[in-house]
Amino acid sequence: MGLIIDALLSRSFGDRTAVSDLELQVSPGEVFGLLGPNGAGKTTTIRMLATLLPPSSGSASVCGFDVVRAAGEVRRRIGYVMQQVSPMGYYMLTGREKTEIEAALYHVPRRQVRTRAAEVLELVGLTADADRLVQEYSGGMQKRLDLACGLLHRPELLILDEPTLGLDVQSRHRMWDHIRSLCDEGMTVLLATNYMDEADRLCDRLTIIDHGRSVAAGSPGELKAALGALSLDDVFLHHTREL
Ligand SMILES: Nc1ncnc2c1ncn2[C@@H]1O[C@H](COP(=O)(O)OP(=O)(O)OP(=O)(O)O)[C@@H](O)[C@H]1O
Ligand SMILES: [Mg+2]
Repeated sequence: MGLIIDALLSRSFGDRTAVSDLELQVSPGEVFGLLGPNGAGKTTTIRMLATLLPPSSGSASVCGFDVVRAAGEVRRRIGYVMQQVSPMGYYMLTGREKTEIEAALYHVPRRQVRTRAAEVLELVGLTADADRLVQEYSGGMQKRLDLACGLLHRPELLILDEPTLGLDVQSRHRMWDHIRSLCDEGMTVLLATNYMDEADRLCDRLTIIDHGRSVAAGSPGELKAALGALSLDDVFLHHTREL
């Protein structure tokens, strides 16, 4: 089977280079990490892969399709859970209502919307709270609801931008368990994160980016061994510290 992501991408905003010749190769079933300090270019990279932002140069194929020439094919095959919490417009809905609306947006066949929504809510442990207003959800519950919505059309590739930002320890661990179990079922995950423990725990392989460039890549074990480092924190600081 081919690569799920095969990319060499650059993107500038005016004279600011956000992503510079970034190479990514992700195999089926992997959890692949995109690590980097604030402003490193993680979200910009993800938006290009998710067909929401055209590259300035380079190209990318996702699930076998070009992100520019076959954006529709790519979109059908990916789920994208954004960094920021969902817009306020949803807050007057229950979790179930929001999920069912999103299912329609994801072109889940009408007859299946109910069952599919119930299925993903169960998967993220929100069944008991499904009929409460999203407004009343804690931050962690809202993140899990976002994850559920990203799973509605059973994507081949799930793209998660900072899935545990702002969550408490319990919620983070629960989120990691959810992500792991999705991969065990064959889904591929691209994960952007600032948390080294998260990357260490979850990622099969990762790329550390700084100023839009890849500065190190490998499995967490390889990256640590190469420097004789005890933690991924040390690896990260080694590669990204401004001297
Ligand atoms: N729409 C935009 N217009 C202008 N500059 C942008 C735009 N989007 C991103 N940038 C710039 O591109 C660079 C990379 O931003 P990006 O959001 O990709 O970083 P990030 O790695 O996701 O950071 P964080 O960890 O804070 O989420 C930053 O310098 C940012 O200011
Ligand atoms: Mg970001």
